Amino acid sequence: MAVPLLDLKAQYRPLQGEIRAALDRVLDSQQFILGEEVAAFEREIAGFLGGVEAIGVASGTDALLLALMALEIGEGDEVVTTPYSFFATAGAIHRVGARPVFADIDPRMFLMRPELAARAITPRTRALLPVHLFGQMAEMEPLLEIARARNLSVIEDAAQAIGATAGVAGRPEQAGTLGMIGCFSFFPSKNLGAAGDGGLVVTRDAELADRIRSLRRHGEEAAYVHTRVGLNSRLDALQAAVLRVKLPHLDRWSAARAVNAERYRRLFADAGLAGPDSPLILPETRPGARHIFHQYVIRARRRDDLLSHLRAASIGCAVYYPIPLHLQRCFAELRHQPGDFPVAENASASTLALPIYPELTVAMQEEVVRVIREFYF
Ligand SMILES: Cc1ncc(COP(=O)(O)O)c(C=O)c1O
Repeated sequence: MAVPLLDLKAQYRPLQGEIRAALDRVLDSQQFILGEEVAAFEREIAGFLGGVEAIGVASGTDALLLALMALEIGEGDEVVTTPYSFFATAGAIHRVGARPVFADIDPRMFLMRPELAARAITPRTRALLPVHLFGQMAEMEPLLEIARARNLSVIEDAAQAIGATAGVAGRPEQAGTLGMIGCFSFFPSKNLGAAGDGGLVVTRDAELADRIRSLRRHGEEAAYVHTRVGLNSRLDALQAAVLRVKLPHLDRWSAARAVNAERYRRLFADAGLAGPDSPLILPETRPGARHIFHQYVIRARRRDDLLSHLRAASIGCAVYYPIPLHLQRCFAELRHQPGDFPVAENASASTLALPIYPELTVAMQEEVVRVIREFYF
């Protein structure tokens, strides 16, 4: 049985009528740029995230760029981030003229280690940029504490973590709402995916929110009056309309992903592929946190051979990410070498993502585990 890594058609089918009606509403209005549809989505997602200012932008990448620009981070500045993320995290820092400074990750959850982030801080550091990778939040309490002590901003890359929570001072808090600015992506494969590119910036600071709203429209303060140079980066009204249909389902979808993750744990255990001697290490969730399983990423012995075996059996799988950011050729000027961030490098060489999407069936999960078992035994 073929099992795709992701099947967006399965999500679309039951929503098709509603999504088409929402698109028709926008087409009938001919209001494509900002307007009521985007404003309504911004209100609804702000409510979902818990009373933040929400600004719809053109992509998650632009959300990061706008966050950095709003904090006036640029030439001569450093931003401490993780070497194990999607390219945009470091790309955005470089784009504004600042230097990405990497701090290695922990080997179990692949998240930036706060004590290593603290060590990477220099007098030029302006911000910490943790990534809530694969749907689980970085350790925000120590990161916020470090930032407070060193007078740094925290920008959360929550592109993969909408709806993830973690306990802060004993209370569950939403990913993206704890730092100065949170950045989200609505890339179609995300847990909340648009029908194209889309992104969101959130903040609790009203003045900063106004600055970001201005920056997303060329730094305009009033019509044709520009006090700073921004971007042209607005969430499309058509995308907002699609996202408004999907948002009420997000919690259910993320819960279904978590159920699938738990089922994999049982199936792998039954197959003799869990525990200390297993060739696999399964994903872990920090106690008290809500993991939304944007990706289900395992570590596997003989990873590349396993990938070939899975592909030959038509099981969807992928490597996120095969080259850590410090070794990307475009960052050669940072003068990093293999060995600089060994945990990230090891993750790039040993991890793979398996299908985890909400509509995955039990039979499909059994097939994934059967094919993996067949490889090892
Ligand atoms: C961690 C991370 N940061 C940033 C982005 C950029 O988002 P987008 O693709 O919407 O530009 C993505 C996703 O694609 C991501 O996974």
